[in-house]
Amino acid sequence: MISDKMQQMLNEQYNKEVYSAHLYLSMCSYFMDRDLDGFANYFRVQSQEELQHADKQFDYVHDVDGKITILPVEAPPAEFESIIDCFEQTLAHEQYVTKSIYALVKQALEEGDFATHTFLQWFITEQVEEEATVKNLLSKLKMIGDNTSALYLLNDELLQRQLGAEGAE
Ligand SMILES: [Fe+2]
Ligand SMILES: [Fe+2]
Repeated sequence: MISDKMQQMLNEQYNKEVYSAHLYLSMCSYFMDRDLDGFANYFRVQSQEELQHADKQFDYVHDVDGKITILPVEAPPAEFESIIDCFEQTLAHEQYVTKSIYALVKQALEEGDFATHTFLQWFITEQVEEEATVKNLLSKLKMIGDNTSALYLLNDELLQRQLGAEGAE
């Protein structure tokens, strides 16, 4: 069993994960439009990973006799200023998601809801990885600057990214 409050917060988190999936798919579209297939692949995989996060939360809430309500999802931005802008927006968004996960952990502890607390540990680790990956790519992009050859090398590297089994990537 989970409390109404915990269920509501997890439902909101579910909605945020679906929004994340749409945001990254919009970035995928931005890169497809520019024929940067590696960057497009990176964000497509990231979008799929966000849907896995949403699924995990959906299943957990139902496992503990709660219920997820499907709510409207806000439209993400359709255009971006630059490649760096995409990654800066991604970092800001992931930092926002991390704060949101921390608020869930705090609520679980306050309620003595140790099952939800344990469930959330995976997401804490995942957020560390998400932020670190994006920061690393942002540094690389800043080093690359206007060097088109280096940009295409990074594009090729990002073409290799594949979806992990549990989104732990
Ligand atoms: Fe996520
Ligand atoms: Fe990830």
